Amino acid sequence: METDKKLNPTIIIILGATGDLTWRKLIPAIYNLYLDKWIPDHFAVIGISHKDITVDDFKKRLHEGVNKFSRRGKAKASEWNSFEKYLNYHKAEFNVAGTYTAIEKQIQKFEKEWKVSANRIFYLAVPPNSFDEIALKIGSSGLAKNKLLSRIVIEKPFGYDLVSAKHLNDLLHTIFDEGQIYRIDHYLGKETVQNILAFRFANAMFEPIWNRIYIDSVQISVAEQLGVENRGNYYETAGALRDMIQNHLLQLLCLIAMEPPVSFEADEVRNRKVDVLNAARKIRPEEVHKYAVRGQYGAGWIQGKKVVGYRKEPDVNKDSSKETFAALKLFIDNWRWQGVPFYLRTGKRLNETLSVITIQFRPVPHQSFPSEATGNWQPNRLVLYIQPHMGIRMRFQAKRPGLKMNLYPVDMQFNYDDTYTSGTPEAYETLLLDIMEGDSTLFMRADQVEAAWKILMPVINSWEANPSVNFPNYESGMQGPEDAEALIAKDGHSWSVIPPEKSE
Ligand code: BG6
Repeated sequence: METDKKLNPTIIIILGATGDLTWRKLIPAIYNLYLDKWIPDHFAVIGISHKDITVDDFKKRLHEGVNKFSRRGKAKASEWNSFEKYLNYHKAEFNVAGTYTAIEKQIQKFEKEWKVSANRIFYLAVPPNSFDEIALKIGSSGLAKNKLLSRIVIEKPFGYDLVSAKHLNDLLHTIFDEGQIYRIDHYLGKETVQNILAFRFANAMFEPIWNRIYIDSVQISVAEQLGVENRGNYYETAGALRDMIQNHLLQLLCLIAMEPPVSFEADEVRNRKVDVLNAARKIRPEEVHKYAVRGQYGAGWIQGKKVVGYRKEPDVNKDSSKETFAALKLFIDNWRWQGVPFYLRTGKRLNETLSVITIQFRPVPHQSFPSEATGNWQPNRLVLYIQPHMGIRMRFQAKRPGLKMNLYPVDMQFNYDDTYTSGTPEAYETLLLDIMEGDSTLFMRADQVEAAWKILMPVINSWEANPSVNFPNYESGMQGPEDAEALIAKDGHSWSVIPPEKSE
């Protein structure tokens, strides 16, 4: 991917520049944008952190990060050397007004040198409890005064619940216009996730059957083998519902269930998505157990290695009631989807790392074939593979070769890797470029975030008021708790096998 398109001069100010996100994701993404010639001629990154390190230490660490995490592998020395000149570092505290005066001075210095005003992007790569304070300081320092040039980027989690999300939105809106705020959900930057829009709206053949008449149910699964790693502190305040479902899985649901947008203008797409969230049937507090299942991993085996249970992970309470697995059944109350269940599930320490969306079609309305032909018959199924494999698989029935009519399911497949040889950009590359270009289509608008919280609040409230009595209830390396099977089995469905079993 290369382009001649030139962006406005841009300065990205990363607050939390010595943290994991900057090292693993942001700088490798910016580096790849640089190699693909997306970075404007006048460009700078200003890293801010309280760590007492030199700019050379900072660059050295980022170089290691690029070598380790860039999709292109180890950086070529000549390329890195010409890139690192963009990197600057300031040791500074976020809660001190002087920090923001220093940032302003540095920005002015660049602008004077470049003889042009630059976009200033404030990237908050910091824990959520610092969002308020940093935003307020950016506001009071006057750094956000220019509404066209200043933007703020907020990582998830956006709020802890509906009330705190509203509070954060209100606070941000006292300083920034909605169009200046970029709420990141990195799933929306993933290539395969964006491809859902192309698949649905750039092809004429799927849209006519994309509704309750032809679709029986939808499953969205995001399974991870990873545990909580070194994020016990954060996870104890989050859990699977807040960490994954409130954002990533509900956004996937929106892309599957949204109405066709009239255009790909940011607000048009986001309006269609928020319509889906607003149409989600409210779960009544007394019915949470019918719609939601939680789990927590115990000890077990992952890829041949023994792993500890969640309660033995660092920084986790030894009798924690936090869920590391959540499954949800949702209905979208509109004409298109009335009566079609959407099953969402996600969990850590499962048997596979795999994100897939399964669209299960209804059976044919009348079975003309004799029963001896249809022993292996299965309704059509479309599987969208999000990661780690990227592709689409359509299951249909075919005649098995032989003298008798014998039907058997077969698959048509599209695999990204077989079709495209050029590298696939990482989600953060797409998202950072969009922020630089001022395109907010792939970012969460204030009302989307709040609508997503509204769906989950009854479940969150119920689970917090009634700590689970049977945790841990699934072994690491397995498919999750038995209750999750029951949630869907009572509707006559079953979860797609992970990974879905291969057809002939
Ligand atoms: C993050 C969650 O948002 O997404 C993590 O906080 C999770 O807990 C991660 O592991 C999954 O992202 P990906 O891109 O690896 O699927």
